Amino acid sequence: MLQWIRSLLRLNKEKHNKENLPEDWEEPKGPFQIVPMSHDDLDEVVKIEKLAFRGGSWSRWAFASELRRGPDSCFLVAKVGDRVVGFGGWQREYQEAHIVNIAVHPRMQGRKIGEAIFRRLLEEALRRGLSQSILEVRASNTVAQNLYKKYGFQVIGLRRWYYFSPKEDGLVMRLNDIRQALERVPKTLPSLPTQDGGLNKGAVEK
Ligand SMILES: CC(C)(COP(=O)(O)OP(=O)(O)OC[C@H]1O[C@@H](n2cnc3c(N)ncnc32)[C@H](O)[C@@H]1OP(=O)(O)O)[C@@H](O)C(=O)NCCC(=O)NCCS
Repeated sequence: MLQWIRSLLRLNKEKHNKENLPEDWEEPKGPFQIVPMSHDDLDEVVKIEKLAFRGGSWSRWAFASELRRGPDSCFLVAKVGDRVVGFGGWQREYQEAHIVNIAVHPRMQGRKIGEAIFRRLLEEALRRGLSQSILEVRASNTVAQNLYKKYGFQVIGLRRWYYFSPKEDGLVMRLNDIRQALERVPKTLPSLPTQDGGLNKGAVEK
């Protein structure tokens, strides 16, 4: 009986992994850009969210409602040509930018795309008058924590069983001075000038 349950669990896991591996995903070639998320991006964004978080928790509707919030929310995508390869976003909470989601397609991770999105999120927060940022991260997610620590985020609290599937504690991390962080961490790419001083739609991240 125990053997039977084990093989059923293993089969389920294999099925889950197979469904979630982007085996038939053709990698887009070329430089990437960071641009504001639009409704046309949502199918790809939801797909990447599911892959990057092994299931994901945000629905298409959740992303779409963020796009309707106006200046109190900022959601960006990284694109190679017209293909979305990553995304991230924050919501305004008082004087803080609460980074609520960020992910890069698993096949494109480790190429500075996540950092480019993250940095642009902070730049845009500062431009909109927000000087601080906060976020939650799984206790085991050291890759994301390294990125946040690189910009000076510090652990300020722990939320017991904050995450589900799998159940896990969340660390609360906070950055007290976005401007200082952006000045301290060298930019790996030149910024192209923008006409309105806002999101750098023309910037090419390499
Ligand atoms: C977290 C994530 C967005 C980072 O994006 P990425 O494009 O893979 O990361 P980058 O190449 O931009 O690396 C930026 C920094 O992240 C950290 N990092 C990236 N890959 C790492 C690895 N394999 N091991 C340790 N740290 C790593 C490093 O601090 C790195 O800076 P450095 O190269 O100067 O050391 C991406 O890995 C991802 O989508 N993960 C799954 C979803 C997720 O966990 N999101 C965060 C939820 S809170």
